[in-house]
Amino acid sequence: MTTKSAIRLLVVEEEQVGTVAADVVLSALPSRQPRIGVATGATPLTLYWELGRRVASGAIDLRESTLVALDEYVGLGQWNPRSFAAYVRDVIAEPLHVAKGRVLVPDGLASDPDRAADAFEEAIATIGGIDVQIAGLGTNGHIGFNEPGSALDSSSRTVELTEQTRRDNARFFGDRLSDVPTQAITQGLGTISRARSIVLVVKGVAKARALQAAVHGPVTPDVPASVLQRHPAVTVIADREAAGELRPREEHHE
Ligand code: F6R
Repeated sequence: MTTKSAIRLLVVEEEQVGTVAADVVLSALPSRQPRIGVATGATPLTLYWELGRRVASGAIDLRESTLVALDEYVGLGQWNPRSFAAYVRDVIAEPLHVAKGRVLVPDGLASDPDRAADAFEEAIATIGGIDVQIAGLGTNGHIGFNEPGSALDSSSRTVELTEQTRRDNARFFGDRLSDVPTQAITQGLGTISRARSIVLVVKGVAKARALQAAVHGPVTPDVPASVLQRHPAVTVIADREAAGELRPREEHHE
């Protein structure tokens, strides 16, 4: 049986990704106390800068938001500038004026990462889940750090990072592969799927094949992002390079 995916696909110029994504995220947020799942990495930077600009201009107020990270490296804590905790604090929470107590990040320094992952999953449930999950796409089709082979209904857990992901992310570690952690705590594919809506931002030719597989390929653990096809409220915002392998009939140019 094939079910038609409900993914909404917006293909825009690279410079527009941040503003279009900001519009989509804001339109999906509830007016009171939104819970926003936040990916880190390079792709959503312009989105966070755009939200920061709108906050600074007084156009929006996100102070009452709760921010929930997608993942964290095992072994890195908030005072390591390469940790996702530092990214969420410096790039997102501070410009959006979200207080520390409203930020949830898995504890990368926990002596028992599996327990920290369970506690993270529980904390997400306790706040009532995530309204809008912002995600990026790995060149191998991962979302969060759910690498190929991840169960489509997985919960937050400790994972081993693939060589490809560690190589892709070595650019954040001074190009020293040996400095890139080998494990992470990530929201699971089931966790991500429970968000009320999901906004996937994708840029660059290196993501084109993964995006095609995620949007139009079979739903399979081999392409973790393909789980998004089962979600009723997913918007993909892709630049032209990332969209280069997509079948044109599915595109909605804006
Ligand atoms: C980051 C995350 C990852 C990234 C993905 C793309 O929190 O969960 O899935 O979104 O690896 O990273 P960039 O945007 O740096 O290419």
